Amino acid sequence: MLRAEQTTPRRPRFARRATLRRSLRLLGSFRFEQSDPAVFYGGVAADTADLVSDFYRDLTGDSLRGAIVLDVGGGPGYFADEFGRAGARYLPVEPDPSEMHAAGLRVAGAVRGSGMALPFRDDAVEVCISSNVAEHVPHPWVMAGEMLRVTKPGGLMVFSYTVWHGPFGGHETGPWHYLGGEYAARRYRRKHGREPKNRFGRSLFAVRAAEGLRWARETPDDIRILAVFPRYHPHWAWWVVHVPVLRELLVSNLVVVATKRPRSAYGESTPPDATQRGARFGFAPW
Ligand SMILES: C[S@@+](CC[C@H](N)C(=O)[O-])C[C@H]1O[C@@H](n2cnc3c(N)ncnc32)[C@H](O)[C@@H]1O
Repeated sequence: MLRAEQTTPRRPRFARRATLRRSLRLLGSFRFEQSDPAVFYGGVAADTADLVSDFYRDLTGDSLRGAIVLDVGGGPGYFADEFGRAGARYLPVEPDPSEMHAAGLRVAGAVRGSGMALPFRDDAVEVCISSNVAEHVPHPWVMAGEMLRVTKPGGLMVFSYTVWHGPFGGHETGPWHYLGGEYAARRYRRKHGREPKNRFGRSLFAVRAAEGLRWARETPDDIRILAVFPRYHPHWAWWVVHVPVLRELLVSNLVVVATKRPRSAYGESTPPDATQRGARFGFAPW
């Protein structure tokens, strides 16, 4: 049984892990994405499992042991081993069968479906995450709403995406995306004789950091935003999310962490107290 909001500290536990050393380690692994995906994805998977475990512990006081972690757009299931190690029941949902089979992994219970219409009932899972998926869907905030819908009251939702004007926004078509996504896609085709895998307007969309912040601000009252921060930055640089324009260029990957308030015995969500309301709109001053 989830016991949300009992033990949430003002500063998330994960901030202690977000050191400069970690940022450099993750940055260093990016160059292996194509040549040695196991190195790249292994590192990111371990880091993601730590991130989710830390926020879950802040929220509930518990480890992930026995919790269902629904990974929306989980691809081949690179995160399965790390969440398994943490004791979670990892469940990827992915619309593209070729992505599902891309790495030859076999994840029991993998589900085929879209994040914009999740094939799960309301309040189904303790944890719902998506990592680097929102920029690949035409309606990312519909997906975010779906993720909250399937998360149990008191459960955790983690939504992390690549910011369009950041250094990785254009994916393989970057840095030309700074001159426009359509231009970058056409240029890639001219140069390589084929369409990029991540084609602007079809499988790659311009999602800005400001949109994530606006979505967080506008969530209904039964949602509490626990944190908004740049995923790969050291904690002392997290303030960049609060600076318009700069955040679009420097955040690179924005994480929004939210929870759905537990309901009373009468089915109403418990009202926020004054401090929680402050955290909800100010995203806490870390
Ligand atoms: C860059 S990969 C991210 C994979 C993994 N989550 C990670 O962080 O390594 C983007 C994934 O989003 C998936 N995707 C695309 N459209 C989607 C949708 N409508 N719903 C859920 N996932 C989608 C793609 O098939 C792909 O597997």
